[in-house]
Amino acid sequence: MLIDTYGRVATDLRVSLTDRCNLRCTYCMPEEGLQWLAKPDLLTDDEIVRLITIAVRDLGIEEVRFTGGEPLLRPGLVGIVERVAALAPRPQMSLTTNGIGLQRTARALRDAGLDRVNVSLDTLRPDVFTALTRRKRHDDVLRGLEAAREAGLTPVKVNTVLMPGLNDDEAPDLLAWAIAQDYELRFIEQMPLDAQHGWKRDGMITAGDILTSLRTRFELTPEGQEARGAAPAERWLVDGGPHRVGVIASVTRPFCRACDRTRLTADGQIRTCLFATEETDLRGALRSGAPDDEIARIWKLAMWGKKAGSGLDDPSFLQPDRPMSAIGG
Ligand code: GTP
Ligand code: 5AD
Ligand code: SF4
Repeated sequence: MLIDTYGRVATDLRVSLTDRCNLRCTYCMPEEGLQWLAKPDLLTDDEIVRLITIAVRDLGIEEVRFTGGEPLLRPGLVGIVERVAALAPRPQMSLTTNGIGLQRTARALRDAGLDRVNVSLDTLRPDVFTALTRRKRHDDVLRGLEAAREAGLTPVKVNTVLMPGLNDDEAPDLLAWAIAQDYELRFIEQMPLDAQHGWKRDGMITAGDILTSLRTRFELTPEGQEARGAAPAERWLVDGGPHRVGVIASVTRPFCRACDRTRLTADGQIRTCLFATEETDLRGALRSGAPDDEIARIWKLAMWGKKAGSGLDDPSFLQPDRPMSAIGG
């Protein structure tokens, strides 16, 4: 079991498969991209499957989420999913993606055993999409979403970050669209995890702003704390249900007390928290021949040191060196 000194138990493992991405979202990375991890530093498919096996078999992990960068850029993704689906107990498996290429791979991912996907989409307007992501791929994302729904990777969730002056007027339109398409929409507060360190608290759209905007067109009823469990998203029933909308308010309404997560980066480092400033190296142990029980021991020890929370409200808060795209969201 992965337990920390605050009594939280991690049952959810987020695995970053690559730090690369084919979009350049302004709240995430600069136009020119970043210094990507070198190939030899990345865990191989076999190493990833071995670590997930230990996590599931020996450490109580029940859900595995594949992230990036953009995880669909990892050539071995379908094979990894297939091998993880064969584990006993079989974990729940999901993918967080920007949706580009999903049109081609949704069916194969489903057949390999993936349960569901979350797709990032910030706007319904192609020109705003190009401004936000610096790439003309709006249509690919919409087609990827449809393919995921058709393949049964459901519920399909849509992640939206609102940026002042760009798409902050779109919340009600996005919600009406998501309901019509049968996607579950969640708005995410922008977090200080961008590579450019350009985040400003007074420049971000808050959960309060989002709810005010949605309530101009919809009646929202809180779903209640019991239904939420350890989920980052707080949810509301829209116009009495059955559709819902979520808000992931990591900045103004943090949920660290219920956190059930542990993370693995593409270069084999354990992160106990999105905002951790320290990491624990598993790749070194793997490559020096450590047996499974030694890997499990290192992982447990790392999680024992998990901090109470993000520290975002501390005056001494320091943004982690690793940007969101290399952590895996
Ligand atoms: P579901 O189980 O599908 O609801 O997953 P999720 O919402 O946890 O995952 P997803 O990958 O879609 O992430 C949505 C947003 O939540 C992203 O902006 C993540 O960075 C953020 N997020 C995910 N896990 C955490 C966490 O542990 N802490 C914080 N603060 N944010 C998180
Ligand atoms: N703050 C909040 N969300 C972010 N994402 C990427 N960068 C940030 C940030 N700085 C979102 C993506 C994706 C999800 C995994 O995280 O848009 O939907
Ligand atoms: Fe968990 Fe850290 Fe996110 Fe809080 S900020 S919910 S502790 S990962």
